[in-house]
Amino acid sequence: MLIVARTMIAFSVFVLPLTGETATTSDTMPATLPPLQNTPLPDRVKLGFLLYNDLNISARRNTGCVTCHAHSAGFADPRSAADPVNMPVSPGSEPGKFGTRNAQTAAYATFSPPFHWDEQNQTYVGGQFWDGRANSLKDQAIGPPLNPLEMAMPNKEAVLARLAENPVYLEAFRRLYGVDLKWPQVEMVYPKFGAAIGSFEPTDEFAEFNSKYDYYVASKIDLTPQEQLGLQLFNGKAKCSNCHSSKPPANYPHALFTDFTYDNLGLPVNPRIAVLHGVVSLPLDLGLGGRPEIAAKHPDGSQNGKFKVPTLRNIEITPPYGHNGVFATLEQIVHFYNTRDTLGEVPDATDPNFGITGWPKPEVPKNVNRAELGNLGLTDEEEAAVVAFLKTLTDDAFDEKDLEHPEGQAPLRR
Ligand code: HEC
Ligand code: HEC
Repeated sequence: MLIVARTMIAFSVFVLPLTGETATTSDTMPATLPPLQNTPLPDRVKLGFLLYNDLNISARRNTGCVTCHAHSAGFADPRSAADPVNMPVSPGSEPGKFGTRNAQTAAYATFSPPFHWDEQNQTYVGGQFWDGRANSLKDQAIGPPLNPLEMAMPNKEAVLARLAENPVYLEAFRRLYGVDLKWPQVEMVYPKFGAAIGSFEPTDEFAEFNSKYDYYVASKIDLTPQEQLGLQLFNGKAKCSNCHSSKPPANYPHALFTDFTYDNLGLPVNPRIAVLHGVVSLPLDLGLGGRPEIAAKHPDGSQNGKFKVPTLRNIEITPPYGHNGVFATLEQIVHFYNTRDTLGEVPDATDPNFGITGWPKPEVPKNVNRAELGNLGLTDEEEAAVVAFLKTLTDDAFDEKDLEHPEGQAPLRR
């Protein structure tokens, strides 16, 4: 497996100044499929790239999007990947500050449709974040700079002042969005920051579709017998594909391994997050049901404990697992799916017998899905096969030189 391609992004720096592109009134990047072909403004992409990688937009000039969503870690947090047990959540810009949820991968996030209620299937679908509270990448990107546990800037004015320090940004925002970073109309200018980043995130870097599995689907390579068994189980006995769809969505060629719906899997509390926060316990995380407007619409609590089904692409390199990172390894989370309801009970997730003799109680007992997981009856070999299959979903599986590139294009790219 080659790591080369994974480090390349750091050097593929786009060059500003900008070419020919000017501001228009419609800078809408649909969050729905297909994103890339409809991105008519490459210079906005370049600006987004610079902003995504800029650490200056944080209180201590030490944290950017890239800090918690790095290519080397499948666009999740490399610090969590390096220590999935003790660092399930990301350190923020200010010393001693930590988030409350596991940093999701920003890869493939562009495919999540805007948050909506699906009448036919009676479920919420889409949105960004574990609870879908941002509708689009643009809306999502304006949050982290102002989050005291993340980039920790005091307000939008301060963010814009930081941006205005850089003459390239001053020029780019003027040219591409028709706004001046020094204008006092902050409410008008600030969203353009999100718009630029939201133009960068739908690019190929975030959706490579060049895993071993993609090569297998393209009939360019075989899976090992164990991976093959894992795939069969994934789509069958283990029921994974019920939510992590292995079929491409309508009108798109590649599988995304999520249907963007919401579920309560009955994950236990991760007490190590409270430890990082220096407290005994944190408030319950109700997920989707914890959003005030969702809580108001569903006073019966029917959305409590539900989190968005994540993509499983690059899952091998994005530990820990789950919205609170309570599972350090793929073996552990697959064992949880298999035995949640049969193994026995331990007091909490720091217990040495966690996942060995038992699982703790769910954080939110209401709405726990008992139909599709908890007692799958997989053997040890079958669990191992599912894990082996999951590891075929890691991008950059091969050096592209090994493949034919019709018309100079990598075959599986958009
Ligand atoms: C300090 C770490 C940190 C920083 C900095 C950070 N994020 Fe995140 N990101 C997270 C965490 C944690 C979540 C999940 C939060 C939640 O669900 O409440 C997340 C979620 C996301 C998601 C949602 C993915 C999905 O599938 O729903 C995207 C996209 C994203 N971040 C992009 C960004 C961008 C763009 C920036 C910079 C403007 C950024 N992040 C800065 C930690 C971080
Ligand atoms: C009923 C829908 C459903 C089924 C079936 C399902 N999952 Fe999930 N999966 C989810 C949801 C929802 C989450 C996030 C839950 C949370 O964090 O509370 C998730 C999270 C995960 C994660 C952690 C991802 C991350 O980025 O942290 C992995 C790995 C995973 N599932 C693998 C599997 C495997 C393997 C199977 C089959 C054995 C499976 N899932 C079956 C809905 C499902």
